[in-house]
Amino acid sequence: MIILGFESSCDETGVAAVCTERGLLAHALHTQIAMHQEYGGVVPELASRDHIRRVVPLTRQVLQEAGLALSDVDAVAYTAGPGLAGALLVGASVAQALAWSRRLPAIGIHHLEGHLLSPMLADPRPEFPFVALLVSGGHTQLMRVDGVGRYELLGETLDDAAGEAFDKSAKLLGLGYPGGPALSRLAEQGDAARFDLPRPMLHSGDLDFSFSGLKTAVLTRVRAASPDGAIDEQTRADLAAATQAAIVDVLCAKSVRALKQTGLKRLVVAGGVGANRLLRAKLAAALEPTKARAYFPPLSLCTDNGAMIAFAAAERVKAGLAVLDADAHAFTVKPRWDLAEIA
Ligand code: KG4
Ligand code: ZN
Repeated sequence: MIILGFESSCDETGVAAVCTERGLLAHALHTQIAMHQEYGGVVPELASRDHIRRVVPLTRQVLQEAGLALSDVDAVAYTAGPGLAGALLVGASVAQALAWSRRLPAIGIHHLEGHLLSPMLADPRPEFPFVALLVSGGHTQLMRVDGVGRYELLGETLDDAAGEAFDKSAKLLGLGYPGGPALSRLAEQGDAARFDLPRPMLHSGDLDFSFSGLKTAVLTRVRAASPDGAIDEQTRADLAAATQAAIVDVLCAKSVRALKQTGLKRLVVAGGVGANRLLRAKLAAALEPTKARAYFPPLSLCTDNGAMIAFAAAERVKAGLAVLDADAHAFTVKPRWDLAEIA
């Protein structure tokens, strides 16, 4: 069965074709980073309008690269939430219109389920059950995953997400949007040991996170280092390195604790922050003395993309969890949507 998937929840338009037997056939992506950069963050209305411009050319590209005609497509999938309402509506309406016109079923996918299953697009593919560390711009969660659709929340952030901590600290250091990649690049020139930043909730004994205090600590250090409003290059780099080290330390420690608590031996890392090189290296090192192993999506599929949405739909179809009704085309999107609610 061939599924055409659409992702448009935030600032990336992604389209992909996945075959339930052969896996990923083709995917194409347009990122709006350059467009939002001058505003220092995502402008929702601009995001929606750009998704409209990009979605049809990207669909044509995917079909061509996969060697498919529209008549070869058996089902359509789209991100139904969570995300920006207007942005979600673009992918949802295009997918539903396409499905309706060709009398195909349309499958609404939870964005985080897409991230959660995306490491299964890599080789080697993790087997169930595993612990998933979901670290994106809007979410930081540890989940126990026993199978497709079987997700149990173990812990989550009480305030800012890890990606948000990267983005907000980057802004304080005068870096552009998105802050995560910019901050980690600057950190390569810095000495993380120069500033002793807090590791929030490191010893809380549970699997929850809190990152809002870190941003305040960075702000205090920036102010102290720049009484005249200017901060020297080395101090910026050292602060970037210290911030990254603090976030990564907490993510590593809680992931190791989640493995210990559940007795599971596989850790799957997904979401944009999963692209962070220090996080990848530190997790691998932390798991080295244990029998556990970390799995990551391919770097290009860490941030938002259509492949993970089409793939999640394919996995739901294979697990018998997708409603394949070619005549049901009423739809809604859910800007807020708890992953634990889906079955
Ligand atoms: O999963 P994603 O693309 O979108 C959401 O669903 O939120 O994640 C975006 C987040 C942003 O906060 C971005 O700064 C962060 O992932 N990010 C990174 C890196 N690449 C992206 N954070 C740290 N290091 C990176 N290399
Ligand atoms: Zn995402």
